Amino acid sequence: MAKLAVNVDHVATVREARRVNEPDPVVAAALAELAGAEGIVVHLREDRRHIKERDLYILRQTVKTSLNLEMAAAEEIIKIALDVKPDIATLVPEKRQELTTEGGLDVAGMQDQITEAVRRLQAGNIKVSLFIDPEPHQITAAKETGAEIIELHTGRYADALGEDQKKELERLLEAVKYAHELGLMVKAGHGLNYVNIYPLAKVKEIYEFSIGHSIVARAVLVGFERAVREMVEILRHCER
Ligand code: PXP
Repeated sequence: MAKLAVNVDHVATVREARRVNEPDPVVAAALAELAGAEGIVVHLREDRRHIKERDLYILRQTVKTSLNLEMAAAEEIIKIALDVKPDIATLVPEKRQELTTEGGLDVAGMQDQITEAVRRLQAGNIKVSLFIDPEPHQITAAKETGAEIIELHTGRYADALGEDQKKELERLLEAVKYAHELGLMVKAGHGLNYVNIYPLAKVKEIYEFSIGHSIVARAVLVGFERAVREMVEILRHCER
């Protein structure tokens, strides 16, 4: 079955709505692991709108599965990553005004800068994943940087409806196949929920899904462990 990595950013978003100390993303991460998550993901944004350094440093000590730090390829954040040493660093594009990560990283257009960031992080014993759109030229460029993992941006698939969604699914499946042929490990994420995950969960070349918002949204209503367990169950029962 594919692994589930749970993004706990939006637990911190609720905390920051009041600038207090609850709910704690560290507690949510522990509950997610108890419920079967095999990875914890956090995005330390340059504006620190949800996750803070404090969360990251504590998570580094408490996460027992795999800690994945989403980050911009910015000097300040690279230094923090090299100090914290997450298991995986996922390079993402970052704009201050966006509500969430809007598109994939333009690796092809920033090849030298990304390659340098990949090299520095890997020299610090951190595996690097690049969050990219499902486009062949971005996959080729990602491979050339030396990164071992890509995460395909599923946002367009998640937002599309009907025939458009079928087309976006096809695009994703072709991208998965191409990346796998190049020897890249393939993850997927963004906008995935308890309904649209099914066709992707069947794709055996996708080894992990990174899911945040839909799990935190369900957790508010049914509890964190149950929300995570229900997603793990879907992944477990999808034949691959
Ligand atoms: N993967 C990446 C690289 C992301 O930036 C995000 C959003 O933080 C996710 C996955 C999770 O997306 P969502 O919150 O829509 O599940």
